[in-house]
Amino acid sequence: MPITIKSAREIELMTEAGRILEIVHEELEKALQPGMSTLDIDRLGEEVIRSYDCIPSFLNYNGYPASICVSVNDEVVHGIPSKDRILQEGDIVSLDAGVIYKGYHSDAARTHGIGEVSKEAQQLMKITKECFFEGIKYAKEGNYLFDISAAIGSYAEAHGYGVVRDLCGHGIGTALHEAPEIPNYKMNRRGVKLKAGMTLAIEPMINIGSWEVNWLDDEWTVVTRDHSLSAHYENTVLITESEPRLLSFTRELPSL
Ligand code: MF3
Ligand code: CO
Repeated sequence: MPITIKSAREIELMTEAGRILEIVHEELEKALQPGMSTLDIDRLGEEVIRSYDCIPSFLNYNGYPASICVSVNDEVVHGIPSKDRILQEGDIVSLDAGVIYKGYHSDAARTHGIGEVSKEAQQLMKITKECFFEGIKYAKEGNYLFDISAAIGSYAEAHGYGVVRDLCGHGIGTALHEAPEIPNYKMNRRGVKLKAGMTLAIEPMINIGSWEVNWLDDEWTVVTRDHSLSAHYENTVLITESEPRLLSFTRELPSL
């Protein structure tokens, strides 16, 4: 599939999708507390998504049974919400959410600490977010896709972390997953040339330990093989002729 270039109208719709998704993440972050179940997070997320006339894009996607992916501690991504999984003080929890607004998708993920978390966990969450912002320094017309990948990967590795290789970022638009695939590590090629109007979901998944992962028997949950903590940070990004526009992150500038 070719990489789609969005029209002004499509960008308008994706901007609205991103704005709503940002609100979904803010509402989820506010609600997080020890004692709540990962299913409580999913229920709230779905309610907020639907309250903005959006559809939760993950629900039933390839059979995924929920609206929000909730991945705790050594779970990397695609954790399935459950009433029996209770968040504890000191956990870190990655929330991945996707919305469809008038046929257009936005996809974003954040990792949060529950109450007080260890210094190691705080550092992992901070560096994972910074990986994203390192990557998007290269996200502009005329640069090459894998410049983003290399920037993310080298920043994580400089901090001694493992970069998940089995899952990638992706193009996004009228489908959740469009071309191109966006690895979070250095490639031997530069990849496609970036053009204004491309929309990309850039999503570093970073482990304190090794990059290696396993899939649990539920066929969804991805966990670190060495059970080290993992963090995830993702936004939907519009390529322009100058600076990239973050469609799912419009609030405070990151203090890096
Ligand atoms: N943000 C995830 C991704 O980009 C989407 C979760 S997959 C689903 O791949 F199946 F849970 F929807
Ligand atoms: Co994604």
